[in-house]
Amino acid sequence: MKVAVFFLLILPLCLAKSIDKTVLFDFMIEDEAGSGTTDAPDIYPPEQGPVCPFRCQCHLRVVQCSDLDLDKVPKDLPSDTTLLDLQNNKITEIKDGDFKNLKELHALILVNNKISKISPGAFLPLNKLQRLYLSKNTLKELPENMPKSLQELRAHDNEINKLRKAVFSGLNNMIVVELGSNPLKSSGVENGAFQGMKRLSYIRISDTNITTVPKGLPTSLTELHLDGNKISKVDADSLNGLTNLAKLGLSFNNVASVDNGSLANVPHLRELHLNNNELAKVPPGLGEHKYIQVVYLHNNKIAAIGPNDFCPPRYNTKKATYSGVSLFSNPIQYWEIQPSSFRCIYERSAIQLGNYK
Ligand SMILES: *[C@@H]1O[C@H](CO)[C@@H](O)[C@H](O)[C@H]1NC(C)=O
Ligand SMILES: *[C@@H]1O[C@H](CO)[C@@H](O)[C@H](O)[C@H]1NC(C)=O
Repeated sequence: MKVAVFFLLILPLCLAKSIDKTVLFDFMIEDEAGSGTTDAPDIYPPEQGPVCPFRCQCHLRVVQCSDLDLDKVPKDLPSDTTLLDLQNNKITEIKDGDFKNLKELHALILVNNKISKISPGAFLPLNKLQRLYLSKNTLKELPENMPKSLQELRAHDNEINKLRKAVFSGLNNMIVVELGSNPLKSSGVENGAFQGMKRLSYIRISDTNITTVPKGLPTSLTELHLDGNKISKVDADSLNGLTNLAKLGLSFNNVASVDNGSLANVPHLRELHLNNNELAKVPPGLGEHKYIQVVYLHNNKIAAIGPNDFCPPRYNTKKATYSGVSLFSNPIQYWEIQPSSFRCIYERSAIQLGNYK
């Protein structure tokens, strides 16, 4: 009862006040029109709190501004935003101050814009940023000063020609890095570029012109996808210490040889994709490998299969059995393969030999 009375008393006061204001603004607009100034008065007082940018949609601290033909980052984004989606716009540049106040931001999506420049301080205020999606832009390099909190970086399909160590150093929380379809030249990845990222688990650098497996990869790595490059050799050194690596993708390269010891350096590998390369023989060390299950070798130049290429020489010491071995489209005389070459493979359907003519 008391509350109702209070409102009844206060309501007319509020109304009176806002009417006063409206009248005042009308008066000012008239006055300004007369004096020739074009500045509109600030109709919304700042006390009203964060305002959703014009044409964006804001809901549960997610600010959705995709597909709006924006040519710059909207001003005055609500400071409690956790996800900002700006994909499919025409933003050309990210400037210092564009993301100021966004201390709660976790994910920033800038995919498919026309961004060619990111000012060095642009991401500095983003202390909590975990996901940064920059794919499908025209960046020539990755920005330095990315937030240390970053866990996932995607910059697929840009114009980046060099991956520099300085860009990644200190990003100790990074887990996923996706940098494919960039014009990286033969030595486009600086030695040890990824070394410092102690939690890094997944790297994809596919469809570039790199000619070697990057050196100095962190031990934490579980997946390395380097398909569609110009790699001509797997050197054991590059895989040294990758004791957690489970998937290695090297299909559609020019791999003609795999060093002795390469597979011994990745003892927990489960999947090896080497299809569509220039291999003349089965990679050495498969027979002794304990955990490998999937080996794609189709579309190579393998002419013969040795008795111990896939299976251990004496007792079966494998701890996991093969589930997929592909050998089709190789110049093998398939009828000359000794069936015992596959003695450690119990499921016939696990082997695809095919019909090379
Ligand atoms: C790789 O190099 C070739 C020849 O120089 C070039 O035509 C091609 O665009 C390059 N690819 C990439 C992804 O940079
Ligand atoms: C690799 O190992 C095979 C068999 O053990 C050996 O014949 C060959 O010479 C070795 N190659 C190199 C480059 O060490």
